[in-house]
Amino acid sequence: MDKTPVVVAVNGSPHMGAGNTGMMLAMIGAELQRLGLGLEIIHLTDHRIEYCVGCGHCLERGRCWIPDDHAAIVERLLAADAVVLASPVYFFHVTAQTKTFLDRSLALGHKPRPTWKPGLAVSVSAGSGETAVAAYLEGLLRVYGAFPVGSLTALATVPGGSWARRRSRRVPRTWRATWRGRSGSGAATRRPRPTCGTTPSCPRWCATTMTRS
Ligand SMILES: Cc1cc2nc3c(=O)[nH]c(=O)nc-3n(C[C@H](O)[C@H](O)[C@H](O)COP(=O)(O)O)c2cc1C
Repeated sequence: MDKTPVVVAVNGSPHMGAGNTGMMLAMIGAELQRLGLGLEIIHLTDHRIEYCVGCGHCLERGRCWIPDDHAAIVERLLAADAVVLASPVYFFHVTAQTKTFLDRSLALGHKPRPTWKPGLAVSVSAGSGETAVAAYLEGLLRVYGAFPVGSLTALATVPGGSWARRRSRRVPRTWRATWRGRSGSGAATRRPRPTCGTTPSCPRWCATTMTRS
């Protein structure tokens, strides 16, 4: 029996499924499902991936020696029937999570892959850089044995779009109430740091705009 072709997507957003990149991947997933294809999404933030140390060991040996989750993710990309590389724009580039993952793939970048499967680049920004980042990711699809069939880009400021904006009106009021009771120097450093719970290092602002997916 033929197995369902599986598309594997790597999401470099720290907002994982709750962010704009995650939402774009969900849209792609729904469309793929309609076509009878599966989509597996790997959120890099969910995994331990150390920085590349630039030792060059992988160029000699063909694989990186650092024992973390990178190799397993690469295996899934190489085994996939199609590949999606997705990252929001962070200061006109991919996120640090995405860049770290890509850097660690150096050995593959120096070795032509024997496969030629479809690949898609996905990027979103708050106003500028999404097409450049998508073009960058398109160029890196070949590292994982894929060629670009195109890219999907979007502009979005807060995760969740209009729903999030409606919700955010309420939350700053809660914050103001918390701060009112504090005065004098050092008040800012004593502010509680609310988190959305998506990641342990969740930035404070996203508590106003996000919910878990
Ligand atoms: C550290 C940081 C840097 C950013 N840099 C840019 C930028 O250079 N250009 C831009 O248009 N948006 C920038 N943004 C906004 C994000 O690209 C935008 O909010 C995006 O929708 C977030 O996607 P996500 O929800 O999938 O994480 C930045 C956001 C952060 C947190």
